[in-house]
Amino acid sequence: MDYVYGPGKNHLFVPGPVNIPEQVLRAMNRNNEDYRSPAVPALTKTLLEDVKKIFKTTSGTPFLFPTTGTGAWESALTNTLSPGDRIVSFLIGQFSLLWIDQQQRLNFKVDVIESDWGEGAKLDVLASKLAADTEHTIKAVCIVHNETATGVTNDLSLVRRILDEYRHPALFLVDGVSSICALDFRMDDWGVDVALTGSQKALSLPTGMGIVCASPRALEASKTAKSLRVFFDWKDYLKFYNLGTYWPYTPSIQLLYGLRAALDLIFEEGLENVIARHRRLGQATRLAVEAWGLKNCTQKEEWFSDTVTAVLVPPYIDSSEIVRRAWKRYNLSLGLGLNKVAGKVFRIGHLGNLNELQLLGCLAGVEMILKDVGYPVKLGSGVAAASAYLQNNIPLIPSRI
Ligand SMILES: Cc1ncc(COP(=O)(O)O)c(C=O)c1O
Repeated sequence: MDYVYGPGKNHLFVPGPVNIPEQVLRAMNRNNEDYRSPAVPALTKTLLEDVKKIFKTTSGTPFLFPTTGTGAWESALTNTLSPGDRIVSFLIGQFSLLWIDQQQRLNFKVDVIESDWGEGAKLDVLASKLAADTEHTIKAVCIVHNETATGVTNDLSLVRRILDEYRHPALFLVDGVSSICALDFRMDDWGVDVALTGSQKALSLPTGMGIVCASPRALEASKTAKSLRVFFDWKDYLKFYNLGTYWPYTPSIQLLYGLRAALDLIFEEGLENVIARHRRLGQATRLAVEAWGLKNCTQKEEWFSDTVTAVLVPPYIDSSEIVRRAWKRYNLSLGLGLNKVAGKVFRIGHLGNLNELQLLGCLAGVEMILKDVGYPVKLGSGVAAASAYLQNNIPLIPSRI
């Protein structure tokens, strides 16, 4: 059975789930514990305090749900809104599409602002909607910070500025699943009311924990929001927070210890250094794509994502074949094109606990695959462009200075 893995390490470059560092794997390799013993609440208390740092919030209240990003979405929506509420949501790729589908199934009236895939959120349309909404019928603005399907990052500070410009009280709900802990994200500065992420992305943990952080305004809204909620109800958690026992139901002990180790690694490197590392990984990848003569699915520099690059292939190549071949021949996992861009793009995920030399291995693999599928690439061209940039920009490892 081991044979299916092939020799050596696999090269996991999908944009989540991502590589889990050894330190985290070791921290999780433990027996279950009684979560009602004093040790687990003590651990949880430090986790809740420290998790706020990755959201850059001091006033927010975090919740650790046994779920994925999709459950975290549901928690954000159902705790703050009531059925029939009007909300504005941006459709820019597969994950924003799925969130909108959830919003509609939860019976919110969604004003969908659609962009071509590869483009960012149309914030000018948001501005005109808010300007026209003098009665404040819009209850929330929902946005995916980083659209993982197309490698597009939206400017959240601009969303806040627009909300402020029109003095609009709508709640600001943000999917930070493929951004938080990798891209610049500032919950308090940007007045985000609910932000959320999933453990399997930049935190580099196994899948299974949805982290949701609520502003004081969002907590206030949850007192009157009428959406049906049970498993994801913040109230149940808050009750146990007040008791100092923290858990309304059984947490994954292993994930809690994993989260402790993951946060420790991030703080050891320094969150700003983590963000700068992702900037380097993103830039190196984009330089390689350019050197191969291929195009980024993202149309403009202002939207370039530092956690995932979606690469457009020429029409005579099926990008799914690139992904299949990468896995079969080179033990490299790349992301498929999803929905509207299926067959047209493949995705390189460059997020989480990943360093520059690992990325160069991936880029070398992509070059060989491109040649395999008949694309005339010069072997080494992308690696050369990326490494020339990296050689000039990699700092000393922070903990070794
Ligand atoms: C931006 C974004 N939001 C939400 C999700 C859904 O998360 P999950 O698959 O953990 O439910 C994903 C998954 O990749 C994502 O990339």
